[in-house]
Amino acid sequence: MNAEPAMRQDGGLEERDPRVTVIGTGMLGSAVADALLAAGHPTTVWNRSANKTNGLAANGARRATTLDDAVAASPLVLVCLSTYEVLGELLEPLQDGLSGRVLVNLSSGTPKQARDMASWAAKRGAEYLDAAAMSGTRLIGQPEALFLFSGAPKAFASNELTLRALGNATDLGADPGLASLYDTALFGLAWSTLAGFYHGLALVGAEAVDPTEFASVATSHLPFLGWLAADHARQIEAGHYPGADGTVEVHAAAMDHLIETSRAHSIDSTVPELLRALLERAITADHGDSGIASVMEVLRQPAAPA
Ligand SMILES: NC(=O)c1ccc[n+]([C@@H]2O[C@H](COP(=O)([O-])OP(=O)(O)OC[C@H]3O[C@@H](n4cnc5c(N)ncnc54)[C@H](OP(=O)(O)O)[C@@H]3O)[C@@H](O)[C@H]2O)c1
Repeated sequence: MNAEPAMRQDGGLEERDPRVTVIGTGMLGSAVADALLAAGHPTTVWNRSANKTNGLAANGARRATTLDDAVAASPLVLVCLSTYEVLGELLEPLQDGLSGRVLVNLSSGTPKQARDMASWAAKRGAEYLDAAAMSGTRLIGQPEALFLFSGAPKAFASNELTLRALGNATDLGADPGLASLYDTALFGLAWSTLAGFYHGLALVGAEAVDPTEFASVATSHLPFLGWLAADHARQIEAGHYPGADGTVEVHAAAMDHLIETSRAHSIDSTVPELLRALLERAITADHGDSGIASVMEVLRQPAAPA
């Protein structure tokens, strides 16, 4: 079992056993193992195709020849395999080998798979943390790389210092399904934001604006959207939608301008049309005079079939 962290004089956490194992050194696992090595953790790695551990070994990783050896090497075992099914099939034969380990699963899946995996691990005496790597592979090891964790009480706190080597390690609490739930929700957020960005690039590009020039202005607009999101979350909690940021009607008219300008430049208008349809549903539901966060009222319901 991993030792409880001690409080250092500066108030930070000190973990007594820094050893970590990384199972699966594909794109994600390699970046994770490299960040752990860079932070000074004795890191054991195992991968089905052993050649994918060559670079890590050159950076100081210890290569385990068997899976049993890999799991036995460290109290903290990070898994970066393609699916939960692969994880289950690989670790099933280990039986007692997992007992006393903290198993952290960074593979992507559903909240149900995460909750099932937590029960599976508990039966084998392991503490289970489900995890989501939110920031691709290139930022791993830097503070901007968001990692979400949820699962076994105390498992995050006991290993927080090590997990912080990966980036911004955030604990979502004891429900193992939450990391995966946030993962999917934030994936939708990222794609919606990027779809708006890509559409904006296509629009200004039609008037020969350089993509990097647009990106520099667009990214300076993003902090406002972060502020708006936090404020609108409070409105949604209160169920009260003041129109200070514009009403649904006003935004629908502005969206019409975006659609019209897109068409005038002969570019694809699918993205603003989707948003216009959402605003129209809010108007139909009698929220035309409400603030734009009132679209929540229609998003909570399934859309009527087209
Ligand atoms: N890459 C990212 O930016 C990123 C970000 C967030 C989450 N994720 C998630 O992280 C997981 C891994 O992604 P990845 O990008 O690292 O994928 P990847 O590069 O394709 O690596 C997949 C890993 O799974 C192993 N594997 C697959 N089937 C196996 C089997 N039957 N037995 C043993 N090992 C097996 C592979 O081993 P071999 O090398 O032997 O094939 C490899 O280590 C996925 O669930 C992905 O959705 C990835």
